[in-house]
Amino acid sequence: MALDIKVTRTTTPKAKPDMDNLGFGKYFTDHMFIMNYTEGKGWHDARIVPYEPIVLDPAAMVFHYGQEMFEGLKAYKTEDGRTLLFRPDKNIERANRTNERICIPTIPKEDFLDAIKAIVKTDEDWIPTNPGTSLYIRPFIIATDPVLGVRPSYTYMFIIILSPVGAYYSEGLNPVKIWIEDDYVRAVRGGVGEAKTGANYVASMKAQVKAHDEGYSQVLWLDGVYRKYIEEVGAMNIFFKINGTIVTPALNGSILPGVTRDSVIQLCKYWGVPVEEKRISIDDIFEAYQNGTLEEVFGTGTAAVISPVGELRWEDRIMPVNGGKIGAFSQKFYDTVTGIQTGKIADEHNWTVEVK
Ligand code: COI
Repeated sequence: MALDIKVTRTTTPKAKPDMDNLGFGKYFTDHMFIMNYTEGKGWHDARIVPYEPIVLDPAAMVFHYGQEMFEGLKAYKTEDGRTLLFRPDKNIERANRTNERICIPTIPKEDFLDAIKAIVKTDEDWIPTNPGTSLYIRPFIIATDPVLGVRPSYTYMFIIILSPVGAYYSEGLNPVKIWIEDDYVRAVRGGVGEAKTGANYVASMKAQVKAHDEGYSQVLWLDGVYRKYIEEVGAMNIFFKINGTIVTPALNGSILPGVTRDSVIQLCKYWGVPVEEKRISIDDIFEAYQNGTLEEVFGTGTAAVISPVGELRWEDRIMPVNGGKIGAFSQKFYDTVTGIQTGKIADEHNWTVEVK
């Protein structure tokens, strides 16, 4: 390991949560990784320390101007006791693209991977093994200069925390109902929509509350200009199966380039299933629904893996999908990707990385 990491172990390990009732992101492991950045010195003082609150100046820039980024990936235990990460290189590349976009110094990819491996190894005994569970890894960087002028910070903290998780949605793998939002927008091209930064998520909350009040679990965003073209769901990318073809919105600058999204596309190509990345309007979807060719709809994301959609609501139009049941393609993708992640299915794509 190239990164020099000082390890201080906790003297008071926590009791593990009930691994049958984890929910998502509610429990945290015994340790966290921290590394600081100072202009002129670069990234320094990589360390693993007991998980505890961090102390920040109330003027720290992250609190005022939101200069922060985050990532999400997962670690899994195989039946023979190995620990696997799923496509960490993709998260690291995206993290550094986010960093570039919001003026945070990038982290050398080998150091980033070393940091992930080291913290996962330290808390390896927290990786849950029940079906549908995993250890969610949340790397993030915050701007720490105690200054109220608007400019990029000169100092940062890079932190990685770990959370044993179950399904992201309470529905689990049961289909969710989705509200198509045509009033609020999440992002516009040229903004930060394709970066993994908190700003995109706070922008989504008002519509999410509205959707919840209407009995829908998630919001499907339309583009910010015409309010017509499909973008993504707040915590997921979106896919449609129309007349045998898997279609998803093309990356256009305001959509998050999801790692699971990329895995669906690659698996379709590998399986010989027709797949298209293109501009899709809500009218196209409604038309497919009306003429009976809208066969499946599903969201993809690291947290959710895959989430089948059982109903779409667009203004006063309600579109039930596949009789409200998970479709055959969605199930096949879920079984394959979770099989690869947990080492039950051969990893023919070299997607997994072992933590030793
Ligand atoms: C993920 O899928 O990892 C995400 O970051 C989505 C969400 C939990 C914000």
